Amino acid sequence: MAGYVVVGTQWGDEGKGKIIDVLASKADYVVRYQGGNNAGHTVVVNGEKFALHLLPSGMVLGKGKCIIGPGVVIDPKVLLEEIDRLEKKGMKTDNLFISDRAQIIMPYHIKMDELREEYSEGRIGTTKRGIGPCYADKITRIGIRAVDFLDMNIFAKKLKIALDEKNAIFTKIYNSEPLSYEKILEEYTLYANILKDRIIDSVIELNEAMDQGKVVLFEGAQAMMLDINYGTYPFVTSSSPTSGGVTTGAGIAPNKITKCIGVMKAYTTRVGGGPFVTELNDEVGERLRTVGYEYGVTTGRARRCGWLDLVVGKYASVINGLTDIVLTKIDILSGFDTVKICVGYDIGGKIYKSVPASTDILYDAKAVYEELPGWKEDISKITKYEDLPENCKKYIKRIEEYINCPISIISVGPERTQNIVVKEIYI
Ligand code: GDP
Ligand code: IMO
Ligand code: MG
Repeated sequence: MAGYVVVGTQWGDEGKGKIIDVLASKADYVVRYQGGNNAGHTVVVNGEKFALHLLPSGMVLGKGKCIIGPGVVIDPKVLLEEIDRLEKKGMKTDNLFISDRAQIIMPYHIKMDELREEYSEGRIGTTKRGIGPCYADKITRIGIRAVDFLDMNIFAKKLKIALDEKNAIFTKIYNSEPLSYEKILEEYTLYANILKDRIIDSVIELNEAMDQGKVVLFEGAQAMMLDINYGTYPFVTSSSPTSGGVTTGAGIAPNKITKCIGVMKAYTTRVGGGPFVTELNDEVGERLRTVGYEYGVTTGRARRCGWLDLVVGKYASVINGLTDIVLTKIDILSGFDTVKICVGYDIGGKIYKSVPASTDILYDAKAVYEELPGWKEDISKITKYEDLPENCKKYIKRIEEYINCPISIISVGPERTQNIVVKEIYI
């Protein structure tokens, strides 16, 4: 029995997709357990770039089975487009399955997301993919699930109930057009017909597989600071990307999790609104964005950039129970005279060592930095730890020491092969 969880430790886009692809070589299953196509995970193999939104990143390697788990919200149109894209490249997709318990994103969820973003004050800056409204319907208990695709009579009844309510909100509150029941039913009947053979009871399948000793990799989307409970609320996503989300989102008991691997970018980025203590609105931030090519995979938005925040790193370690860290994009830090690490927040003279609940006070926080000497060498072709520049090693050691968690892999480029393995992750 072996369950390995891969989570983002910052605000997303840490390189989870790349790491899942690397670890997938020894996994029997790769499972997404939360989020939806708000995610954008990149895998690069021999210069060819794959952007995955709903598909588990294990689809690129094509070994083992890939499951879109119960805790995920699925936009079937996007899913079919993604499957089609891989098939057009001649890649296999018959190893992809969908949990019957996963929620379905409907056109009214997307419209609601757009309207709320347009009209609400202090907008979140969502990806407008209908994620929040779909999870809201799940909790309100008027969601439609993949299992409903197996009986379109049931689907039609549920659609009527949910849509009537949404159309009343669209027309009476937002002064907007209602959506057509017939059109949605027709469109989704088509999706259901194409997808129905992939719909399985993933809970039974995964638990049996784990009991037989199979290796399962759980792929987190989003990240620590976007977690609905522990992130910078309300500037968060509507699910639990942290390791606790695996138990509820994949139907796996906590004692089936062997390790939790946190992916950490060597600096920090964030897309969308909300506080970001180490954000740099200067030439250093601009340099990180340009050299690191920090533009969203899903929306194309420029990512906000700043120094590494170990207050966030430590918080992520505690909440996720990190056993390993994979440090990514440290190649982007080459060339700075000095590099900075945030080890505290100064809020009105009080020093915080952990992320406070109040998002409002975070806007006033000043980062307390440690400054370390930089390094000039290009490290993107290095494969052995010993070959790294001394100052780069010092930076890595300081992170390990501060968080008190080993850095097992150092990623030095986007390619599958650009890694320094310090310690084997699989046990
Ligand atoms: P995810 O959402 O966590 O999977 O990350 P994204 O794919 O959104 O963003 C990470 C970006 O950095 C992608 O373009 C990756 O190809 C790239 N990347 C991943 N690891 C590294 C690395 O170590 N160095 C560099 N230069 N790029 C990396
Ligand atoms: P991956 O998996 C970075 C952000 C959005 C917005 C907030 C809420 O690629 O790391 P939502 O559409 O989820 O309701 O938006 O969350 N966000 C992400 N930021 N990476 C992601 O995914 C994200 N998914 C959502 O920008 O601020
Ligand atoms: Mg991403």
